[in-house]
Amino acid sequence: MKRLAEFCEIEVGTDKGILGRQALLSGVREVDGLISLITDNIDSEVMEAGPGLRVIANVGVGYNNVDIASAQQKGILVTNTPDVLTDATADLTWGLILSASRRIVEADAFVRAGKFDGWDLNMMLGMGLTGKALGIIGYGRIGRAVARRAVGFGMSVIYCTRDDIAFRDDPQHNSLVMSRQAAMRAGSGPLNQSARIDGLSPKRVTLDQLLEWADIVTLHVPLAATTQHLIDSASFNRMKPTAYLINTSRGQIVDEAALVDALKNHKIGGAGLDVYEKEPQITPELLTLNNAVLLPHIGSATRETRIAMALLAVENACDALAGRAPRNQVS
Ligand code: DGY
Repeated sequence: MKRLAEFCEIEVGTDKGILGRQALLSGVREVDGLISLITDNIDSEVMEAGPGLRVIANVGVGYNNVDIASAQQKGILVTNTPDVLTDATADLTWGLILSASRRIVEADAFVRAGKFDGWDLNMMLGMGLTGKALGIIGYGRIGRAVARRAVGFGMSVIYCTRDDIAFRDDPQHNSLVMSRQAAMRAGSGPLNQSARIDGLSPKRVTLDQLLEWADIVTLHVPLAATTQHLIDSASFNRMKPTAYLINTSRGQIVDEAALVDALKNHKIGGAGLDVYEKEPQITPELLTLNNAVLLPHIGSATRETRIAMALLAVENACDALAGRAPRNQVS
């Protein structure tokens, strides 16, 4: 607020919690720039309500809440806040991996319910991580930060990229990925520079291979037409019955009804979720399943990270309004 006040006049939404639609529509009427949160639906109606808008600075790495095509058409710059939240999100992903695979939340509830009446050889058995395969879907900044942490847990890493998702049904693309794998196995394949991580040899695989081979499947792709319901009932049928699904990206990437079915019928071992398909609503049955760990979208919620995200959004907005190229322009 201090930095913004040095630069421009500020109007702050006064609604408690998520800003209401009417407050948003009337609030943008006379502004040059908007600092929005991922819970604000910035569609063409909002952009039309603010004819002077020159920049929408979204506080978040994801910007699926902004209608990019409308912004482009109206010449409005859109920015996001990548990098500063990479480590916080990767840390929370590991928090979910450990909580789900070692039943930490369930065990805590067990103790609080007064049920702990002594150590038992067979009590609360989970899945060990050492030697298991971590499958990372989406190998951008956050996916790679999650991979780096796998070294400490002695896991191997397999991953697939946005291209492997977009060309999932293209046999030519898939055979190229597989021939690279064969070359790597033979020790002659070049490891993609961006995949290189000390102490690890992450292996690029097709999406279907990843689903079949991984013990932990973790999602790090943005929400787009190609990733909506990327994980559906067919995916759960491919996964190992002992595998865990972790989602700290966007809820709509998973078909939540199919996930509930998979958890209820033990098609997979469990899930760790920070995001939901119709957030903040959660499929009621999910709340009853103790093989799911559920968090309220707190991937980037550390004090340090939230301050860094806010400052970055402010810098992006100020740069755009001053006619300079903002650091994190997405359109
Ligand atoms: C993002 O930045 O997109 C997260 O979901 C919120 O931090």
